[in-house]
Amino acid sequence: MRKSVSILGAGRVGQSIARLLSMKGYRIEHLVCRSMEHAQKAALFVGAGSASTAILDVLSSELVFITTPDDQIEAMGAMLADSGRLRSSHTLIHCSGALSIDSLQAAGACGAKVMSIHPMQAVASAESGVALLSGSYFGIEAQTEDLAQARSLVKDLGGTPVELHPGMKSLYHAGAVFASNYVVVLLGMATDILEAAGVHREAAVQGLVALAAGAVRNVKDTGLPHALTGPIERGDFNTVSKHLAALMDNPEFMSVYKALGEYAARMAMEKRPQKKARIDTLVSLLSAVGVRKG
Ligand SMILES: NC(=O)c1ccc[n+]([C@@H]2O[C@H](COP(=O)([O-])OP(=O)(O)OC[C@H]3O[C@@H](n4cnc5c(N)ncnc54)[C@H](OP(=O)(O)O)[C@@H]3O)[C@@H](O)[C@H]2O)c1
Repeated sequence: MRKSVSILGAGRVGQSIARLLSMKGYRIEHLVCRSMEHAQKAALFVGAGSASTAILDVLSSELVFITTPDDQIEAMGAMLADSGRLRSSHTLIHCSGALSIDSLQAAGACGAKVMSIHPMQAVASAESGVALLSGSYFGIEAQTEDLAQARSLVKDLGGTPVELHPGMKSLYHAGAVFASNYVVVLLGMATDILEAAGVHREAAVQGLVALAAGAVRNVKDTGLPHALTGPIERGDFNTVSKHLAALMDNPEFMSVYKALGEYAARMAMEKRPQKKARIDTLVSLLSAVGVRKG
């Protein structure tokens, strides 16, 4: 018989997890939100479990997902610990990428198992979360003896577990920010640049999304650094010089172009070591250009 599950913070991620685990035969018991209306909507979406605003209700379940916003997780763990009702039969799980399992230290000190399973995914709604989480990679953190349980939970969600080394959560999360949030930021910058070049904003967004999707697909198909294309990978001095001249009046874009260009040169060198001389010239060109202060 599959374990019982409650969700403390039945928002986007909490509801997605509850629905996926329910489909796998876990018994969903309580879906807790701050507002009863939200908890009822969550129960309707999950199709199992009862709506609640009473935090301690979750203690009837063996597995308790704390999927409140990050800044509430430690307090929620402490509140469950303070109840005096936590047992070694309880497993508390959070899904934050930024917080380590130390945030659930108080519960761990009461004998409960504590772990973190962080979906490397942007979940904009519970509906999209159900589709996206199964198929995602999850960064997992747990005591050695609990890792097997964390891995099996992720597999039941349809995901692939990736074990994180202790103390590396912040570095791991910074990497995830590069691949998700900063891709969006780069698309924002690229859109502004195309708009400055006279392209209609909506056309710029659509065109750049198609371009970025192609680049991401190439990474998936051919891997790194082979998926890298463009003027730096080709060692094209004239094109890079023209880019630098075109960006000269915008120090913000120029500094990002230079920093990413230098990293692109390192990847290009790895991909085509025979082009070392040309790529070295490009690196000198990039580092020679000063960035004017705004
Ligand atoms: N969304 C993502 O893309 C994503 C991706 C990876 C990991 N995560 C992680 O997943 C966790 C949840 O994120 P989310 O995006 O699902 O958050 P969310 O949609 O904002 O949901 C948070 C839920 O927590 C409830 N809540 C907040 N404070 C509470 C309290 N004091 N008592 C009881 N319930 C409380 C809220 O209830 P009300 O609705 O009543 O306010 C809401 O249902 C976070 O740790 C986040 O870092 C999120």
